[in-house]
This record gives sequence, structure tokens and C-alpha cells, in this order.
Amino acid sequence: MHFLLAKPLVEELKKTLSKEVETLKSIHKKTPKLAVVLVGNNPASVIYTNKKGEMAKSLGIEHETVVLSENPSPKEVKNTIQKLNIDNSVDAILIQRPLPRHFPEEDVLYWIDPRKDVDAFHPEQVGRLSLGLPCFKPCTPQGILELLHYYQFQPAYKLACVVGRSSIVGKPMAQLLLQENATVIQCHSKTLNLEAMTSQADLLIVAAGLKGLITADHVKKDAIVVDVGIHREGKRKISGDVCFDEVSKKALAITPVPGGVGPMTIMMLMKNTIQAAKLHI
Ligand SMILES: NC(=O)c1ccc[n+]([C@@H]2O[C@H](COP(=O)([O-])OP(=O)(O)OC[C@H]3O[C@@H](n4cnc5c(N)ncnc54)[C@H](OP(=O)(O)O)[C@@H]3O)[C@@H](O)[C@H]2O)c1
Repeated sequence: MHFLLAKPLVEELKKTLSKEVETLKSIHKKTPKLAVVLVGNNPASVIYTNKKGEMAKSLGIEHETVVLSENPSPKEVKNTIQKLNIDNSVDAILIQRPLPRHFPEEDVLYWIDPRKDVDAFHPEQVGRLSLGLPCFKPCTPQGILELLHYYQFQPAYKLACVVGRSSIVGKPMAQLLLQENATVIQCHSKTLNLEAMTSQADLLIVAAGLKGLITADHVKKDAIVVDVGIHREGKRKISGDVCFDEVSKKALAITPVPGGVGPMTIMMLMKNTIQAAKLHI
């Protein structure tokens, strides 16, 4: 059994990315800068935003959080983003989600300049990804692939099953797996007989947002299992979409929650920010 811990890879990435930032500063006189727009004061969003800021700082990346806490209108948020779009010192922008419900999601996708859209939500980025053109790769799926590669598990030739089809995880995950020559089954809430699908997979990636959805019966023996889900119980305990104890006895490899996919997501945000800065030199 292999536990796919992010920590050793995160330590490696910190060194590599810090060096890249140093090079940008010394040779190109460019300090990468990430701006995060935080709407409202959802406690989880505040924690995630702070973590992004701390990681950016530790790598030498400049970081700014624009806090719009007084229930701003979509127009005010759009204006804030437009200012950041034209600010030459800002390389990368993200809007911390979730946004208040009355925000028109279909319009929001277009607000951030695609060259600064490090979360890769802009339809131009989504199209580029599906066409296999250069683009920012969505952070969570990109982090999962880097983790798999680090532990020498290559998706090519495998039957992969992705549970979930969100724009942030499930869909781009399936795209990236296809690009790596996996054969991909994509499941969602209307999939009939989920177990019949997941139990065929050599590589099972679960991003349904349902605690404990995947039991040992859903998993093929010696499969590689990646758990994207995050469920907080109280202040300390965090669990995923996979029943870790029973599945880890059957799988060849599994990501723990916490300590698996989560830390990779933030590292990929830093990687995308540096990539964005390179576009602006
Ligand atoms: N570790 C990280 O860095 C990270 C990053 C992002 C998200 N997450 C976590 O990952 C989870 C998923 O996030 P998300 O943003 O992708 O969630 P989401 O937008 O709620 O999407 C959930 C997806 O799961 C599908 N689904 C729901 N119930 C299902 C079922 N019974 N069987 C099969 N599919 C089902 C939904 O299908 P429909 O499309 O049919 O509704 C949907 O496509 C959450 O727990 C989230 O907190 C973690």
C-alpha cells in the first residue's frame, strides 16, 4: 500500500518555485504578483485566502487580498477586477469562491483577463485546455497529476474513472487524463449504478463532495484512489469522499485527507502565478 502524501513533493516544489521566482526577480526584474478577491467573510474562504497569501510570501511572490466584505454588488466586484486586469504589477487574479448566490456565474467567468486567470475558469482557458493548447491548467486536477507522476503512477493505458463533473475538478480532470492517454469514464449524480463504473477503474478519482460515498465495494483490488473531497467536522477533523480505512486495505495506493490533494492545489496556484508572470515579462 502506498500513501500518496503531498508533503515530500510540496517540499521539492517549494525549492523549485522559489528558484524560479529568484530568477524572474534577478534577470527580468519581475516580482510575480497574485491578487485574490475575497467577497464576503465566509470563514472557510478567509482561511483559504490566508493560506494562499502565506504560501505566496514564503516563495517570494507578492500577494494582495482585496476584501469586499460589505455584500458588494456584482458590478462593484467586476469593477474591482477590471482595475486588477489593467494593473501591470498584477500577474495573476483569482476570485475566492463561493460567491454570493445572486452573482451571475456565466458572466463572472469572463471578468478576469484570461492571461491572468490562474484558476482557469475563463471560457478561453477552458477551450484551450480541451483543444490541448497552452493554457493555465486548473489547480486541483493539475496537482493530482503531479502527485501521481511523483509516485510513478502514470495514467497512460489505465482505465480511469472520475466521479464528479464540476468545472473546477471533474471536467478538467477528465480532460487532462485523456491528454495523458488514459481511457476515461466520467460519473455524476445521474449515473446509474456508480459501483459498476468505479469498480472497473485502475485509477479512481473522486470529487463528488459527499462524505464517505466510496466504500471498498466501489473499488477494484489494487486500484489507485485519489480522494478530492474535503469535509470538516468540528475544528480539527477533516475527511474525504472515500471511506479511507476500508478502501486503503484494498487499494494499491491512496491519497489521505488531509495531506493528499489539498496541499497540491495551493502549490499549483503558485506555479500558475509564476507562469502568468512569465507571460508578462
Ligand atoms: N482538495 C482540494 O484542493 C479541493 C479542491 C476543490 C474541491 N474540493 C472538494 O472536492 C469535492 C468536490 O468539489 P466540486 O467543487 O467538484 O463539487 P461540486 O461542484 O459540488 O460537484 C460535485 C460533482 O459530484 C457529482 N455527484 C454528486 N453526487 C454524486 C453521486 N452520488 N454519485 C456520483 N456523482 C455525484 C455531481 O454531479 P452533477 O453534476 O450531476 O450534480 C457534481 O458533478 C468537495 O468536497 C470539495 O470541497 C477539494
